[in-house]
Amino acid sequence: MPVVFEKCAEDGTSFFLLNTPNSSYIITVLKNRIVSHSGWGRRIEKWSGNAAIWKTDRGVNLPPDLDPRNLSLDTLPQEYGAPGKSDFRPSSIDVAFKDGSRALDLRYFSHNLIEGKPQIKGLPATYALEGTEVQTLALTLKDTVFDVYVTLFYAVWAERDIICRWAEVENKTQDKIKLEKVMSACIDFACSDFRMFQLSGSWGREHKAYIRELVPGTQSIESRRGSSSHHQNPFVALLAKDASEDSGEVFGFNFVYSGNFEARVDVDFVEAARFSMGINSYNFGWNLEAGASFAAPEVVMVYSKDGLGQMSRTFHDLYRERLCRGEWQLKPRPIVINNWEATYFDFDEKKLCALADAAKEAGVEMFVLDDGWFGNRFDDRRALGDWVVNTQKLKGGLPYIVSEMKKRGLGFGLWVEPEMVSPESELFKAHPDWCIHIPGREMYLARTQLMLDLSRQDVVDYLFETLSDIFASAEISYIKWDFNRYMTDVFSEKLDAEHQQEMPHRYVLGLYSLLERLTAKFPHILFESCASGGGRFDPGILYYMPQIWTSDNTDALSRITIQAGTAVVYPPSAMSCHVSAVPNHQTGRITPLAQRAFTAMAGTYGYELDMTKLAKDEIAQIAEYSALYKKIRSVVQFGDCYRLVSPWEKSGRIEKYAAWINVSKDKSHAVVTISWIYAEAYAPKIVLKLKGLDENADYKDLKSGNVYSAKELMYFGLILANMWGGNASEQVLLEKI
Ligand code: DGJ
Repeated sequence: MPVVFEKCAEDGTSFFLLNTPNSSYIITVLKNRIVSHSGWGRRIEKWSGNAAIWKTDRGVNLPPDLDPRNLSLDTLPQEYGAPGKSDFRPSSIDVAFKDGSRALDLRYFSHNLIEGKPQIKGLPATYALEGTEVQTLALTLKDTVFDVYVTLFYAVWAERDIICRWAEVENKTQDKIKLEKVMSACIDFACSDFRMFQLSGSWGREHKAYIRELVPGTQSIESRRGSSSHHQNPFVALLAKDASEDSGEVFGFNFVYSGNFEARVDVDFVEAARFSMGINSYNFGWNLEAGASFAAPEVVMVYSKDGLGQMSRTFHDLYRERLCRGEWQLKPRPIVINNWEATYFDFDEKKLCALADAAKEAGVEMFVLDDGWFGNRFDDRRALGDWVVNTQKLKGGLPYIVSEMKKRGLGFGLWVEPEMVSPESELFKAHPDWCIHIPGREMYLARTQLMLDLSRQDVVDYLFETLSDIFASAEISYIKWDFNRYMTDVFSEKLDAEHQQEMPHRYVLGLYSLLERLTAKFPHILFESCASGGGRFDPGILYYMPQIWTSDNTDALSRITIQAGTAVVYPPSAMSCHVSAVPNHQTGRITPLAQRAFTAMAGTYGYELDMTKLAKDEIAQIAEYSALYKKIRSVVQFGDCYRLVSPWEKSGRIEKYAAWINVSKDKSHAVVTISWIYAEAYAPKIVLKLKGLDENADYKDLKSGNVYSAKELMYFGLILANMWGGNASEQVLLEKI
């Protein structure tokens, strides 16, 4: 079984050994019931317990009760750091008691082994199917004075190198307590010999990989913006000093949450590293009434002994198979045309139909009508909230435009941005109190819009009814759910002063409950999330919507870096990528069509340009790319993805390019893609050593007809033609023979 519990008779300690196929995670309960972390690393079969405690004399560092001088809470690795009792590292939990005191002394109380993976109430999380794929350890700690219980959950996957952690706090005192911070996971690594890998950026520049050495003090990432944000993805990996793409130990952490988060690594005075991840304590407070409990969201923790690449594939498989749900979870995704960059707000039925005609010819399967179809929405300054078709633009309403698409053999998708309201809208006039604002303060607008207060049940119910009506009003098979501003003026008119700090988390819970109801009611709809591109690209969202618009920047060169960063954690099936026009609307750059197409084929593929302006031969060329994508999409979306060269690596004297290979799960097909960021004239020879093929098989290059042994391709490499003369991207399709 994945979880083993043993007592060590000699010294009164006991321990839990949590085993995944290649990793072991050890928790020791000391004889004074302090719960200590004893390590996480390569799988071991037996644990002697001898290495459990660091017994150097640290008398100066305040010992706890039973074991003076050689045991200090300040240096002892813990499973959950409690404040105020001599562990001076950042705490995992902060509680204010009725008397105003804030110290906690958490000790082992009980434990429970659960077959399967319990749900976390109201929160998205990875799930286990019935059977033995997960065993969950629920380890309950209790404060030595107050009846406050903290249960730490460890869901251990039998066939994946994953442990999912979360925490629940229960108040069994007679009084209300105030939670000021609740981390979901804390791990005290014995040393700090790691590099920290993070995905950071901004709008249009999401998920760039940054790698830094750990040094004493704090290194952290966070969001205080109300959503997980463009700026820092809720993901961190700790890379052993010798770890690379394909070797060495990597520990990956991803937070299944879409609101404010923090992830930090604190290196202390003995150069040990405490990793913590959870809801950001900025603007967070939760009043826990007597008898109530609070659940902190899940952290997915991946162990890889084979470098960053294996970590990515472990995340990809888990998210595709046990996070995403519904009819579209494993169904090949349609090629879409989205009218946003083709028309912006300036469209009518005729224009859309003309675009659909061209798109149909170009091999598109789904027409997505973006912003501007409702109310008085002629620009982005008004009408959000007025979800009624604008019949000046769409004379026959939604049913008519849907039928026009159907006639052309296209599915129909619709854009909505339900969490927002424009001050100039009927909704705002009717319910000025529904937006997030602080009475008496100027409302700050972003993109001339305000956020609706989804911490309120009445607002969530209203949105459910309104959206249900729209989704049912015509044959809509795709929804693009947008979210285009961050949260400011945090306040809810429904909450009293004491509860105001609950608002940001209540907002996220409200959003999740709305998405749960809508996705259950409309299971046939493919939901795509969007937040000005990747402003809410996180596993919490993927639980409801299996794909996400990766970035508003559609420039192929920018996308190489953005998509490579995103795919460090998230599977290609989750990454929505479109071919757009040149010069590109965000960067002004001109890139070859082949590069735009091959780069977009790294994820779920589509188009976002005015095809009516293209010449016949360009449409024909695009049709070829569409046909190609249809052929390879199941390999890309649901196969294994290996990075051959990452944009964050320098390759010889070549500035930068990226190359990757998608291999079908049965290894029968592979797609190799290379895309240049910096094209050179008469560029040096590129030799790509392939990965992931069936070592004992031969593969045929479907274009040239050349046959290679897999070993040749993997050990000696594929030599690509010179990348010059505008040939900035190339794709090779391989078939096992
Ligand atoms: C931001 C999105 O990311 C774009 O794709 C587009 O849908 C606009 N919003 C529409 O306002």
